Amino acid sequence: MRSLDRFAQMKLDDLERRHLRRALAETVREDGIWVERGGKRLLSFSCNDYLNLSQHPAVKAAAIAAVETYGAGSGASRLVTGNHPLYAELERRLARIKDTEDAVVFGSGYLANAGIIPVLIGRDGLVLIDALAHACLYAGAQLSRGRVVTFHHNDLAHARYLLATHRAEHDDALIVTDGVFSMDGDLAPLGALNDLANEYDAWLMSDDAHGLGVVGGGRGSSFAGPAHVPVPLQMGTLSKAVGAYGGYLCASAAVIELMRNRARTLIYSTGLPPAIVAAAIAALDVIESEPDYIARPVAKARAFTRLTNLPEAQSPIVPVLIGDEEDALAASHRLEDEGFLAVAIRPPTVPAGTARLRLTFTAHHPDDEIERLAQVVRDNILVR
Ligand SMILES: Cc1ncc(COP(=O)(O)O)c(C=O)c1O
Repeated sequence: MRSLDRFAQMKLDDLERRHLRRALAETVREDGIWVERGGKRLLSFSCNDYLNLSQHPAVKAAAIAAVETYGAGSGASRLVTGNHPLYAELERRLARIKDTEDAVVFGSGYLANAGIIPVLIGRDGLVLIDALAHACLYAGAQLSRGRVVTFHHNDLAHARYLLATHRAEHDDALIVTDGVFSMDGDLAPLGALNDLANEYDAWLMSDDAHGLGVVGGGRGSSFAGPAHVPVPLQMGTLSKAVGAYGGYLCASAAVIELMRNRARTLIYSTGLPPAIVAAAIAALDVIESEPDYIARPVAKARAFTRLTNLPEAQSPIVPVLIGDEEDALAASHRLEDEGFLAVAIRPPTVPAGTARLRLTFTAHHPDDEIERLAQVVRDNILVR
């Protein structure tokens, strides 16, 4: 065997031994919630399409119309000829929702985080990052080549201690956190973090991938508390509740203009397909105009946590912690036997020893199925 293949096989064998090998499972999403997978029809609690907008007739119609008008692909980087007219409308809408001067749209959430952080922080800078922040925030922090220091999850005292210890050694400092944590569903204390950032002349960046459309009246985590928190760097993605694709940053006009000039993942990557930008705009129409509808995912998650005596859901994401990887896989299979899809989440997506089922609730999940899921989880998974 060639050394390359030998290397790959050795790595795969190691993953297999540790129950960490993953496989791509072909999944046909029939509508927002029912899927076909491995020959079975399952009710999915493993999808981030919280408002089922990927299937909304107006969203699909907008995408189709954009293909007819502008074609399938954008043809070039936005800075060359890929900046089709729909971008301006989408960025205007995002800035309005987030109450910032401007916004810029990237190819994906991952690309946004990988691009934004290195524009703001260089070798002399400091990035303070929550321990449970998303992998792509870590990727952006590492790409910055600055000093990266992790604070305990949502632990303000630890963040303060690290700033007091390290801030003075660096020219610039950035505090980075998820707004809604992707694997735990809890919210960051954005108000207190913003105060801390101001106190130490650091800049706060929140990743609201799982907040836009579902918390804070649809405007996201900086609007979820008693008072709006003016987080200066509000990043997010259009791939979850918005039901489309792409990432964004909402910030001041100067910061956004700097991103357009310096963010490598924006400059050196092709613009999004027009259909996806049109779909995102149509989805924002729903998010901005249907408050009762957008309240449903969190309400359904709360119904589930009430029925299972789990801590009250703060977002549509509910973790059912299991611990061991093999046990998490077994729990997932148990739910599959009952007709539910709940994919086991294992390290390195979550810390070692915290393998789990990550359940996500959407506007369309039937209440009686949530009750049945709660009963199965209560009787078979939480009792162990
Ligand atoms: C918190 C968070 N940030 C960023 C991303 C990446 O976004 P995207 O899927 O648009 O690349 C995700 C999801 O995958 C996420 O959960």
